[in-house]
Amino acid sequence: MTAPGWGVHDDAGPPADPLELARAWLPDDADPDRPRVTLSTVGTDGYPDARTVLLSAFDQTGFAFHTSATSRKVAELAAVPRATLTVLWPDWTRQLVVRGDVVPDGPEQSSAAWAARSAYLRQLAWHNTDELAGLDLAGRLRRWGAGTPEGQADSWVGYRVQPRELTFWAAHPEAASRRVQYTRTPDGWTWRYRAG
Ligand SMILES: Cc1cc2nc3c(=O)[nH]c(=O)nc-3n(C[C@H](O)[C@H](O)[C@H](O)COP(=O)(O)O)c2cc1C
Repeated sequence: MTAPGWGVHDDAGPPADPLELARAWLPDDADPDRPRVTLSTVGTDGYPDARTVLLSAFDQTGFAFHTSATSRKVAELAAVPRATLTVLWPDWTRQLVVRGDVVPDGPEQSSAAWAARSAYLRQLAWHNTDELAGLDLAGRLRRWGAGTPEGQADSWVGYRVQPRELTFWAAHPEAASRRVQYTRTPDGWTWRYRAG
């Protein structure tokens, strides 16, 4: 969808299925340049927590990201399996916010995401421990230079945000920004326009 309205400003209205619109907005899963998204979780202290992750893939079953099993976000998701993903387009013309329940990603999808990561990110996944982070620079360089074992890091895990609400925000060069907010219902989706 390359029309200026992005499906948000068009008088024809947005598609009934928000995932169709998401598919039009987001790059193909095979594109190695993955979107950087803000992943918000509920902190174990009750405060919202957030950080940037790569959006590995998405389909009708949800929006997938991958991370380290020892990370704080994983502990938070074990306690409260709910999250929000915020995608901001680099030219600031669009934003997509996805809120939903979080489930573990399937092993095949996680392996595919591992294979698609760059060599640098695969090495990072092997080295991503607080113990290493606490070493001095010489120690960190030595450990990094020692390389990594073959195959998928033991700590590599994936999750999928199953959307219950998706909000598409689009700027307009000559009018107010506006949003289309989809909410899941037992039969599918409803949507309404919201102020930008
Ligand atoms: C551009 C960018 C992309 C990132 N991608 C990921 C990612 O895909 N997975 C991941 O676990 N961490 C990624 N990180 C690091 C996270 O932001 C975060 O520091 C790390 O996952 C630990 O988060 P936590 O302690 O809240 O669990 C990325 C950071 C940046 C700046």
